[in-house]
Amino acid sequence: MASAISRPADGDGTYLSGFGNQFATEAVPGALPVGQNSPQRTPHGLYAEQLSGTAFTAPRASNLRAWLYRLRPSATHPAYAPVAPGLLRSGPFDEAPISPNRLRWDPLPIPDRPTDFLDGMVTYGGAGDPSLGAGLAIHLYRANRSMADRVFFNADGELLIVPQAGALSLFTELGVLRIGPGEIAVIPRGVRFRVDLLSDTAAGYVCENYGAAFRLPDLGPIGSNGLANPRDFLAPAAAFEDVERPVQLVQKFCGRLWATELPHSPLDVVAWHGNYTPYKYDLARFNVMGSVSFDHPDPSIYTVLTSPSPEPGTANCDFVIFPARWMVAEHTFRPPWFHRNVMSEFMGLVRGAYDAKVESFTPGGASLHNGMSAHGPDRSAYDHAVAAALKPEKYDDTLAFMFESRWVIRPTAYALGAPTLQTDYDGCWSGFQKARLPGSEP
Ligand SMILES: [Fe+2]
Repeated sequence: MASAISRPADGDGTYLSGFGNQFATEAVPGALPVGQNSPQRTPHGLYAEQLSGTAFTAPRASNLRAWLYRLRPSATHPAYAPVAPGLLRSGPFDEAPISPNRLRWDPLPIPDRPTDFLDGMVTYGGAGDPSLGAGLAIHLYRANRSMADRVFFNADGELLIVPQAGALSLFTELGVLRIGPGEIAVIPRGVRFRVDLLSDTAAGYVCENYGAAFRLPDLGPIGSNGLANPRDFLAPAAAFEDVERPVQLVQKFCGRLWATELPHSPLDVVAWHGNYTPYKYDLARFNVMGSVSFDHPDPSIYTVLTSPSPEPGTANCDFVIFPARWMVAEHTFRPPWFHRNVMSEFMGLVRGAYDAKVESFTPGGASLHNGMSAHGPDRSAYDHAVAAALKPEKYDDTLAFMFESRWVIRPTAYALGAPTLQTDYDGCWSGFQKARLPGSEP
């Protein structure tokens, strides 16, 4: 476990490198107590608060907690009252009947009316129940304004944010993360944050993980290097704002949104230490592994982060990417093969084209293939692949991703009735000619 100290002047652009490290950082020199988490008198009279992301007794290797030193105790707040959820939905997902059909959507338009990150969350589906600590929800967001005097936290799960267009500044209790398309950020369960837009509009995807926190996958025979390397994950150095004006604090708890009003910003953590932190990661740092002889591996070889379930190797959610890479396998059908999978697959596209669906799956779009649904390359991708000259080929400027889960992902009523739903999706697999056995009629 490494540690690092940073004292940024304003909290912008200073990061601590490593995944799950025990960091220590202070925005004001001397704000962190030395050698003691909760001394009788803290430096500057800051309030010490432990934020636990796992049970106190979780094994050391998976134990997550941070100590926060703040201007005011976060326990000081009036009662929360319910607020309207907009198009945000939560488990249990039972508002619409489910079908085994494959689904695909065009991108969501940016709204005309003022819409911040929280207002702009649209739930497409999910599984499980946040109150039971299993499952996930999948949202798309689109926004045209920053969260003004509004701060959010999610008591139901951590948030994996995948920007597709526009850049975001995530001012969290623990510091500031700036991300744009090609990067991701994870906000742990319970951590308060505000989303400011660094561009006129922004759009992207969110996986709300009700289960065990995302972690790096084991590498098995790959060895000690490859895929996402720990040093490329960045936690924010401590940063805070000392703002005294009304701020709405919104939380998601047991599937509903609740709000209260504070006379100050709750983003007032001056120093912190621990390993329960937000973090960002540049997907261009992902060291892609693959075949150098024949047949490409299963897409699990592209796993960036995994939320395990109690059943080994069977994830509550895997975050998998399909980035730019070389394709060199010999005598091999190179796109993803036709398959039926016990796991459920939700896909999105950040940029470029996905090699199994070159047409009609556009950046900002999405698809859902639930457990055991038959899918694979569409007709045009298949025809191209079987006729292609098999020479080393670089897939450039492409970034697709998948949230893959052991659970059936139940679409919301909005997703099933959305004007962006492609009603002719099944047609992309039509027109395949029957295979010809020796002696059969043409
Ligand atoms: Fe698939």
